[in-house]
Amino acid sequence: QAFFKPIQSAAPPSPTKRHTKISVIGAGNVGMAIAQTILTQDLADELVLVDAKPDKLRGEMLDLQHAAAFLPRTKILASVDYEITVGSDLCIVTAGARQIPGESRLNLIQRNVSLFQKIIPPLARYSPESILLIVSNPVDVLTYVAWKLSGFPSNRVIGSGTNLDSSRFRFLIADHLDVNAQDVQAYIVGEHGDSSVALWSSISVGGVPVLSFLEKQQIAYEKEALANIHKAVIGGAYEVISLKGYTSWAIGYSVANLARSILRDQRKIHPISVLAKGFYGVEGGDVFLSLPTQLGRGGVLGVTNVHLTEEEAQQLRDSAKTILEVQNQLNI
Ligand code: NAI
Ligand code: LAC
Repeated sequence: QAFFKPIQSAAPPSPTKRHTKISVIGAGNVGMAIAQTILTQDLADELVLVDAKPDKLRGEMLDLQHAAAFLPRTKILASVDYEITVGSDLCIVTAGARQIPGESRLNLIQRNVSLFQKIIPPLARYSPESILLIVSNPVDVLTYVAWKLSGFPSNRVIGSGTNLDSSRFRFLIADHLDVNAQDVQAYIVGEHGDSSVALWSSISVGGVPVLSFLEKQQIAYEKEALANIHKAVIGGAYEVISLKGYTSWAIGYSVANLARSILRDQRKIHPISVLAKGFYGVEGGDVFLSLPTQLGRGGVLGVTNVHLTEEEAQQLRDSAKTILEVQNQLNI
């Protein structure tokens, strides 16, 4: 006796909506913040968690499953075995060591590269058509490492990059100007880290370039006030880490924002870590760093030709050099 009695014998329509599967590798602070935001925003039909700690993994899976009555229906699975990721559309990698208070992201490189050598090949093998979204730090160098280890085309290997830094930047500018952060168009580019670059010349608020907006509103500002905002962006993560031990909520929303643009083919522009060689005079090697990039179901659709002043372009090249100095010491 079927649980439901159909009102007519017509066969169910063939599923038009493609089954969307996201795998999150690393069920720590960041991985779980991303997972719960994906569920809340109904971004996947299936969410898979992978970690090296089986009990923690099962506990996190059960805890999320117990919220089913309050969430859109999503199949939630978890395993220490990477086979569970088979056929993923998007693989989000957050596994790895995190900074201790005062430690730079670049300092994590050795520990996390050796982790990636174990994680990336099985991910690529089980989901050869997927898009890899790297979050683990140092995210720019690790995105390069994931690209090399996966053998994927560069349009399908991205890093969360300065999508998060730009959100911090937009929050601080909005707070300074008493406007909504969603009305502030502003990019931080380059390294997700200490050498990031603020693109002052292209910031706009409600479509008005910020510097002339400030003049129009007679809001007194010195270049120093704006420079302090960029300093606060760079220092933001260090402050949060010194207070709560890690960052998680903002990166959770940032990565879900990227997942939506990809899986819903939004063709939105995000500052994310991409293969930047050849853009804005960045040379010296295959370096991944953040540039304003159009994202859709195929991954990177293109890098936007945003105007950079010569000073901003030079700072971007310096940021590339910082990343390459660390990357060139790797033997992968
Ligand atoms: P965490 O320590 O809470 O979680 C890391 C997880 O990775 C742990 O659960 C651990 O068991 C797991 N793991 C270790 N080896 C593994 C393996 N071989 N396979 C699968 N899982 C494995 O650390 P948290 O706070 O989640 O940070 C994770 C990473 O994300 C760090 O590298 C951190 O720097 C980075 N991060 C990056 C941000 C960005 O904007 N790109 C923002 C915040 C954090
Ligand atoms: C951040 C560090 C942890 O939150 O990458 O920006």
